[in-house]
Amino acid sequence: MQHGRVLVLNGPNLNLLGQREPDVYGETTLAQIDASLIALGRELQIEVECRQSNHEGELVDAIQAAPERFDGIVINAGAYTHTSVALRDAFGGVGIPFVEVHISNVYAREEFRHHSLLSSLAAGVVVGFGPTSYMLGLRGIVDRLRSR
Ligand code: DQA
Repeated sequence: MQHGRVLVLNGPNLNLLGQREPDVYGETTLAQIDASLIALGRELQIEVECRQSNHEGELVDAIQAAPERFDGIVINAGAYTHTSVALRDAFGGVGIPFVEVHISNVYAREEFRHHSLLSSLAAGVVVGFGPTSYMLGLRGIVDRLRSR
């Protein structure tokens, strides 16, 4: 894969980054993260498209449509990570490679955040590095796609 395309998908409440619980999620906004990902994509010769939705069904639609335009996905599914059989089934159904990322270290937080419905289908998982989790996730998926 030379000039691939990666979709970065953000789930519920991640539009609030920068103002939401800054002690947990930091002060970087989603727009700043998106800009950094697009810049890193350029460096890696990958086209990066970033989307965010608070709606489970919209995320399902995006995953289902992804194989037409993208080679892989980096996803922070937010709270749906821990609850959504629908998102898991979408990934299982289309079989597109993806990396799961989290800003916070979910394993150092409440018990209900310790389980992910997506992880066992993911190519890899990055947790706890703040906004850098996304950058590591993008590097990881590109590496995986290039080694196929
Ligand atoms: C999160 C962790 C989730 O538990 C939480 O619901 C989020 C953000 C993270 O990036 O650390 O919304 O995915």
